[in-house]
Amino acid sequence: MNWWKDLKGKIKTREPLKKHSTFKIGGRAEFFIEPKDTDALKLLLALAKRYNMPLLIIGAGSNILISDKGVKAIVLRLGSPFFKEVFRKRNYLEAGSGLMLGRLLLVAKNHGLSGLEFLAGIPGTVGGALAMNAGAWRKNIAEVVEKVKVMDYNGKTKILAKKDIKFTYRSSGLAKYIILSATFKLEKKDKKEIADDIKKYLAYRRNTQDTSFPNAGCIFKNPGGESAGRLIDLCGLKGKKTGDAFVSTRHANFILNRGNASSGDVLKLMSLIKKRVKDKLKITLEPEIKIWS
Ligand code: EPU
Repeated sequence: MNWWKDLKGKIKTREPLKKHSTFKIGGRAEFFIEPKDTDALKLLLALAKRYNMPLLIIGAGSNILISDKGVKAIVLRLGSPFFKEVFRKRNYLEAGSGLMLGRLLLVAKNHGLSGLEFLAGIPGTVGGALAMNAGAWRKNIAEVVEKVKVMDYNGKTKILAKKDIKFTYRSSGLAKYIILSATFKLEKKDKKEIADDIKKYLAYRRNTQDTSFPNAGCIFKNPGGESAGRLIDLCGLKGKKTGDAFVSTRHANFILNRGNASSGDVLKLMSLIKKRVKDKLKITLEPEIKIWS
């Protein structure tokens, strides 16, 4: 009998993860599950524990490099409509973890609520953005968060106030939980002004970043206020390639998958970049992307 027979939601076996990663790289997941709601999620956690199966959470798959060997795990995505709802209360928006940031920005703009504009163009979900404290323009999502609703791996739901969450540059103390939703504290503003700011941020991204081929955004963290892209560029690495993995000629912290890059191609190119930057500039780069190996 299938262990998942009582689980409500979408359940797939041997799912190719390539199609869930913006890099378009990755082998199969033993299970790929989207629980219908929090009850189904709770049951899934209990079953995973009972059958001793590791769980990995995926959001929009935009900041991740997945091994071509795939993962022997349950990949969990909060992609059902239940986890994509948004509620407004005065100047606050509560958004489900699976909602794309772009949708959240649209809802905020339509309500004339400002504060999230700087996130425009980040291709992530609310949950993913919080887990890694996504940001741009020297601002991080943590700055606009009021509280976060999470479930621990025992199925217990709790609400964490911002002060109880350790947010740092591209990291948060939320990794030990499953993020269910988050409440953002925003300010009333003219819709047109919000729309104009969003446009401005999107245009800067279009002009400076490279989405001509599948990619995972910035590969390395910016070390100590420096731009990793600028450092990689200084080392003359634009255009460097390993197999189909290619350092963008537009933004050196972007690696493009120009066809059929393997996870190994990307890892090799990352090692080469790291070594060159270390040798030439004596700076150690740390990956910003998550690596599932
Ligand atoms: N630069 C170069 N060469 C390059 C790339 C950049 O000289 O190849 C220079 C630029 O000319 C600029 C400076 O480096 O003077 C900074 O570049 P940019 O404005 O593109 O910002 P960044 O520091 O490279 C950071 C974030 C981005 C975010 C942008 C915009 C990190 C690792 N990167 O990039 O986030 O979109 O600021 O705010 O924190 C991501 O998280 O995936 C990401 C792309």
